[in-house]
Amino acid sequence: MTSNHTATRTGQAATPTSQAALPSRMLGELAVPALGFGAMVLSPGMYGEIDDERAERALTAALDAGATFIDTSDGYGAEGSNERLVGRVIGGRRAEVVVATKFGMRIPDGAPAHTFPVGYTFGELAVNADPALVRRYAQQSLRELGTDYIDLYYPHFPDPSVPLTDTVGAVAELVEAGLVRHLGLSNLTSAGQLREAHAVHPVAAVQTEWSMWRPIDAELRAAAGELGVGIVAWSPLGGGFLTGTVHEVADGDFRQNSPRFSKENLAANNDKYAPIRQIAAELGLEPGQLALAWLLAQYESVVPIPGSRTPAHIVQNLEAARVALHPDTLQRIDDALAGVEVQGGTALTGAGSPVGPASATYRRWGECRPGSARQSSPSVRRRACRAGPALAGRGGARADVAGAQQPAGGRARP
Ligand SMILES: NC(=O)c1ccc[n+]([C@@H]2O[C@H](COP(=O)([O-])OP(=O)(O)OC[C@H]3O[C@@H](n4cnc5c(N)ncnc54)[C@H](OP(=O)(O)O)[C@@H]3O)[C@@H](O)[C@H]2O)c1
Repeated sequence: MTSNHTATRTGQAATPTSQAALPSRMLGELAVPALGFGAMVLSPGMYGEIDDERAERALTAALDAGATFIDTSDGYGAEGSNERLVGRVIGGRRAEVVVATKFGMRIPDGAPAHTFPVGYTFGELAVNADPALVRRYAQQSLRELGTDYIDLYYPHFPDPSVPLTDTVGAVAELVEAGLVRHLGLSNLTSAGQLREAHAVHPVAAVQTEWSMWRPIDAELRAAAGELGVGIVAWSPLGGGFLTGTVHEVADGDFRQNSPRFSKENLAANNDKYAPIRQIAAELGLEPGQLALAWLLAQYESVVPIPGSRTPAHIVQNLEAARVALHPDTLQRIDDALAGVEVQGGTALTGAGSPVGPASATYRRWGECRPGSARQSSPSVRRRACRAGPALAGRGGARADVAGAQQPAGGRARP
């Protein structure tokens, strides 16, 4: 290592709301700490069992340490339980928290489920982002969260049966009504979707999987920069893989559904990432800290949302917001990543994609196609879907969606 390969810890850019304020970043016009907290990990069945007490302790630790940007969804946990957990913990401190939630996966009884393929072993997920349901979704989330506004509100996935611009139009009405402060879009599959949505209502952030083992779509990244849209990076630690501590996943852990986490693929992938762990060791960083600091250096408006049930991990992760990697170090990391082909597909990319920055090509299942719904309500069927590229096939190196689980007998929830 040359002396140029350094990581420096920067001072705090204080915000008045938290004792341990982290540097802040902008998602469109929404100011948030540079690292948020993903609350999905606090629901039972995601990373094994967890009780309310442990979940509340972890979320409180995140807030106390300055991760006051909290990510949840109506689809996390059974029947809104993740949102209720967040609501309980932020109850007395709502003003210091930026609450982001997502809709479309807690489909009301009687409403149709619009399915689309994912690469997890259970094969598909279901949403309904019909604009006629959006206000009802928001009111339900507001009740669960115990608040009267949502800071950042996303459709969890583009609905293959509904033009995204129609869903966005319904969120714009919620913004006008004061129930929602900012619009987000999660799991877009093309830059075109972002451009079209942004023309209807300003988009503060797109949420997408992005990490050292999951590159971002280059066109989506470019469009976000051009439009001034932030990027919220989910699974920024690769579901824990990038911390270097995952060698197998137990029964009851949703990662069992992900090809990347099969025993064989984990062993191979851990070997491939040894050079990255070596760089972290040379810098005196934990591998997970390096993964987060690297991500923060990719775009001034990227905000990773690592999840953890362990207060010591939470504090350790947040330290990464104060680490500035030298350009030579970033280059060395990118050179190492460029030679890696991860074994097993992930979110919207196929297996074996080089993982250098911004090299992925997303699949296009999110484009609305006439007749793409398995079951559609009449109102949805009447909408004119714009023609989009054909869905990728169901087999082979198809994508998967980290964070998804298939409860026994129920709908999958990412
Ligand atoms: N929009 C979407 O469709 C979508 C999909 C997936 C996720 N998300 C959001 O993104 C958030 C984060 O994603 P994720 O949970 O999939 O993956 P992640 O944050 O990349 O990884 C979480 C895993 O990393 C482990 N971990 C965290 N810090 C660690 C440390 N310092 N040392 C060792 N292990 C550590 C955690 O274990 P411990 O608990 O033991 O620390 C947990 O198993 C979710 O909670 C959710 O809010 C969104």
